[in-house]
Order: sequence, then C-alpha cells, then structure tokens
Amino acid sequence: MNNDANSPSAVRRIIDAIADLRAGRPLDGPTIRGVVDDYLAGRVTDYQMSAWLATVACTGLRPDETAALAMAYVDSGRRLTHPGVGRVVDKHSTGGVGDKVSLFVVPVVAACGVPVVKVSGRGLGFMGGTVDKLESLAGLRLDLSAGEVADALKAVGMVITGQSDEVVPGDRATYALRDVTGTVDSMPLIAASVMSKKIATGADAVVLDVKCGEGALVPDLDAARTLARLMIDIGRAAGVECQAVLTDMNRPLGRAVGNAAEVREAISALQGDIVPGYHEVCRQVAVLMVSLGRPNLSTGACEELVEHAVASGAALRILRRWVEYQGGDIAQIDDPDLLPSGRHEAVVRATEDGWVTGIGPTEIGKAALWLGAGRFQHEAPLDHGAAVLLDRQVGERVAAGEPLARLVWNDGRPDEAEKAVRAAFRVGRQPPEEINPVLDVVNVN
Ligand code: URA
Repeated sequence: MNNDANSPSAVRRIIDAIADLRAGRPLDGPTIRGVVDDYLAGRVTDYQMSAWLATVACTGLRPDETAALAMAYVDSGRRLTHPGVGRVVDKHSTGGVGDKVSLFVVPVVAACGVPVVKVSGRGLGFMGGTVDKLESLAGLRLDLSAGEVADALKAVGMVITGQSDEVVPGDRATYALRDVTGTVDSMPLIAASVMSKKIATGADAVVLDVKCGEGALVPDLDAARTLARLMIDIGRAAGVECQAVLTDMNRPLGRAVGNAAEVREAISALQGDIVPGYHEVCRQVAVLMVSLGRPNLSTGACEELVEHAVASGAALRILRRWVEYQGGDIAQIDDPDLLPSGRHEAVVRATEDGWVTGIGPTEIGKAALWLGAGRFQHEAPLDHGAAVLLDRQVGERVAAGEPLARLVWNDGRPDEAEKAVRAAFRVGRQPPEEINPVLDVVNVN
C-alpha cells in the first residue's frame, strides 16, 4: 500500500481500534470497514495495518466483528453474480502443505456438470497458495474482471482467479501483509479472509476444507470444528450454503510440495494416477461439491459422476480448455515436463532401514520456502521451479541409503532445506497405523 499518504482521522481511527481491541472493547462494523477502506486508500500505512492485524491475532475478534471484517473485504470490491448458469459452487481450503486439492477437484466438479467459480489466494507462511501454483503455467491470467469471470464461466464451466482490484481487494492487501508479519494463524483473520472470497464469488454453495494438525493453521479437530462453524455462520448470514470437511494435515498431502511440481502432480492425478491421502480428500471434497450443485442426486450417483469425470478424461479436458481460455500455455498441460523446474537437484537419503512413520509437514513446508517456493518478504517474487519431492510416503519402507526426498531449486538455500527435510522424516521399526485424512463432515445449515 501507499506509505506516503497519511490522514490524521484515519490514523486516529486505527490507533483507537488497536487500543479498543487491547482493552476488550468491541469494534463496531463501521470502524472495521473504515480500517479496511483506509488501508486500501493509502490513508494508513503498512506498519499501522500490520499493528492492527497483529493486535487481532493476539486478542481475537468476536464472531460479529469477524463477520463485519469479512463483509468489509467483500464490499471493498464487487460481489459477482451468475444469472442463467444454474447452481454455482466453490471450495476453499484453510491451507496446508502440498495442498493441491483445488487443482484436481475444480475441473472434476465442472466435468460433472456443476459450474465452479473459485477465487484463490497466494501462499501464506510455509503453506503454498493456488494462485502461486497456477502462475507456473506461462501466460495464465488470474486477475480476471467481473465480466471476464462471467464469460469464462459460460464458456468453460469453471473459473479460477485471484483477488483483484474488483474482487476482494481488501483481502488481497491484508493477506499479503499477513504472509510476512506472523499473523497468518489467527482464527478470525482466517475466517474473514476465506469467507470474503467465497461470498464475493457469488457461489450458491461452498465446501470448506478445514485442515487441522501440525502443518495447518489450526492444531486439532476441536479448533477445526470451531473454525468451520465460524465460517459456516458467516456464509449462511450472507446467503451462501456451506459445508465443511475436516481433514488431517499431520503429513504433507501427496508427493510434491512446491508450485509447478504440485501442478504436475495434479495433472497426473487427473490422468488417473493419484496418491493415497490426496485421493481421499479430493474425492470427499468433489462429491460434496457435486451434491451441493446437484441436490437432486444421491450421494452414490455423485460418487459415480466424480469417478467417471476422471476415468473418461473429461476433467482433464476441462482443465485444458480452462487454461487455454485464461491465456495459459496448454503445451504445459499436455507435457507437464515443460513446467518450470529448478536447475539443481539433490537427494536426501535414509540413514537407517525401517518404515516411514511420520513426515512433519511444517518442516517440509519450510524446506520448500528455503528452496525459494515461498516468500520471506512482502510481495517478493518466488521460484515456481523450487520443490521438495517426497520419494517416500508415511507407511512406506525404506532402506539405509535409499532416497527419502529430492530437493529441486535455482537460487535457494539447499543446506537449510536439507536440514528441514531430515528433521521432518521419522523412520521406525514398525509400520505406522493407517489413517483416513478425512476426519469429519460438518453441516450446520
Ligand atoms: N486461506 C485464505 O484464503 N485465507 C486465510 O487466511 C487462510 C487460508
């Protein structure tokens, strides 16, 4: 944001709002809206907004304040509408490591005849973001105007775009600050950020993938349930039907962590080669989305549609058509080896025989950051080719000297990344218990 302009009344408002939060005095809707609008207009600085966000991260917000923040973000731009295309659905994840669920489910659900409009964000902290991943595709435009979203939806049946000047600019601006100011894992900030995008897309129904565990923004199932209910209530008050699926994030999802590498893994999944864990989450989210879009169908019929969308190649064809429509290079879909990849590669090998009993997602996320896949500074560029590729998954055997993971980078810090990957892998004498990453489905509509 513009750090030059400074308006005395706007500065007074944000400083008073910080003092009120610290004293436990409630903030009313106009004050919250004023803070967001002042920041967007450059009437307060990045450091003042960072202080407000940091205060919220410490004090929390009440549910009505959280909803007011979500609506301030929505009203900072336009709320899209999609007349004449039927029930539109959307999905959002609260973020995790290796979370490429959207790249798979959006084309699958569109191939099931359910229109999908999705507004996504960039990476946050050690977690990647859909916009950063998709920008690995040369030329792909993710800054569509409201009119372009409507046209793309009619032409292709699916749209993914980022926050923009027209769509939740308030979330875009504060999201980028949160990424680099340690204010990512605040429940009200997450709920307002996620739900503003979901309300602004104009979807009739939304599936929220609320991840919990070590590599997520909330630590456990109870916190995930609380976050899910908070978001569902905000959505419902704005007329959006919401369901949440609570999923485990105590290990990375899939084999690839890093932007282009995750796009590559999602394309393989759409070709039918999908790894356990990633598969269960994708399937659950896709089936829920199809049942919200086509409420007359039974769950069994939705499951069959989802399977057919992948097996018939229809979902991959829609992805290809969508990439072409938004200006992306379809040669990279047809031959994913054309996607960016780092010039350097190193293998991290096991030092003992055994079973992989755990892979710490936070360390893997941080390793990817060290390699250049994420940001340490506000709106800094990142390396789409940087990645951690997991050669072993939890539950697989490994012998001393065999690869655990590969590091791929251009200008990163492979020494730090290797340390983080070594810290992530736990190898034991017994195989671990198998778990289904889908923990629960919450529907309080
Ligand atoms: N996803 C978002 O869009 N916002 C958050 O704050 C976290 C995950």
